[in-house]
Amino acid sequence: MNLFDVYPLQDVTIVKAKGSYVWDDKGEQYLDLYGGHAVISIGHTHPHWVQRVEDQLEKLAFYSNSVKLPIQQELATKLGKISGKEDYQLFLCNSGAEANENALKLASFHNGRKKIIAFSKAFHGRTSLAVAVTDNKAYTAPVNETDNVTFLPFNDEAALEAEFKKHGAEISSVIIEGIQGVGGINVASDAFLKLIRALCDKHGAVYIADSVQCGYGRSGKFFSHDFAGVNADIYTMAKGMGNGFPVAGLIITPAIAAKYFQLGTTFGGNPLACAAALAVLETIEEEKLMGNAVMIGKYLRDELAKIPGIKNVRGRGLMIGFDVSEKLKDLRKNLLTEQKIFTGEAKPNVIRLLPSLGLKKRDAESLIEAIQEEVARLEETPAAAQEA
Ligand SMILES: Cc1ncc(COP(=O)(O)O)c(C=O)c1O
Repeated sequence: MNLFDVYPLQDVTIVKAKGSYVWDDKGEQYLDLYGGHAVISIGHTHPHWVQRVEDQLEKLAFYSNSVKLPIQQELATKLGKISGKEDYQLFLCNSGAEANENALKLASFHNGRKKIIAFSKAFHGRTSLAVAVTDNKAYTAPVNETDNVTFLPFNDEAALEAEFKKHGAEISSVIIEGIQGVGGINVASDAFLKLIRALCDKHGAVYIADSVQCGYGRSGKFFSHDFAGVNADIYTMAKGMGNGFPVAGLIITPAIAAKYFQLGTTFGGNPLACAAALAVLETIEEEKLMGNAVMIGKYLRDELAKIPGIKNVRGRGLMIGFDVSEKLKDLRKNLLTEQKIFTGEAKPNVIRLLPSLGLKKRDAESLIEAIQEEVARLEETPAAAQEA
């Protein structure tokens, strides 16, 4: 049997990882500024994370959600403290798409409405509703098509106001990434998030903050939406939550009451996933990783902005994006092949940095030096040779 071939793969076989580094099957070391797509929050194979998962594995790997699993409450309590949302309620699941699917469904259960507002360049996942609110037709099968979703331009306050004026009584929820990831690192403005809050309050709609990629401390705040100074009704989380162990969840305002059987899952909240998620939170706190994300992120953005050919450096904390000129279109490829550095991409000509929140200054400096070297090389290469 072969694998179902849905990903264009880089020609690298990763066999080992530690901190911000990974190694291939030939023993070559790479600096990882991609974090397996924003998943590595506290560093690959962090010793505390390994120990916590191992200890839990010895005790109890799985039992279903039909019994009490105290480690779930332990996680909820810790998450409430570190995120500052202590009165919210936690529902655990397994992936970002599933978290968004549950959030949209819960909003609809809550207010009995069907319409959802999403935004241009949004990515919310691949399951049925999550893909319906994702702004990419290539991911949407005919069976996922629905008239219930309206896409509005990102950060366009007038368009949002007009839509609420017209259909306010029918809108169930508004879903937005605090910083769009797949869309190319686009930061939602504070004014826009405040307006979403105000309009949802006025019209009885639910504000869903997709924090799957931009959450869990990556922006320097626990949820990047919190820069706006207003609370969402539901925050969805995944990626960095387990540092590579599959775990996801949503936290829900106390204003939305739980009802038996509206949501459910077999694997969500299993003890191993909770142990991994707790290890992540404990490490974020112990190693002050949100502060590190702010500091190293600022250094990277400042230095990147000085490099010729690199434009529009943006993002918050260690969620950074920048555009490269046409001449630098091979920069990401060259960083991997020549400098042994993984970065992320968002087409066209956008590079994303999504490293571990524990990224060290010297590794950030290595990245900047490597980019300077590759930019100089590409700038020197005649256009004809680049085409070849
Ligand atoms: C903002 C956002 N939401 C949702 C998802 C979907 O998460 P998952 O792949 O875990 O289903 C992603 C994945 O990239 C994402 O970036």
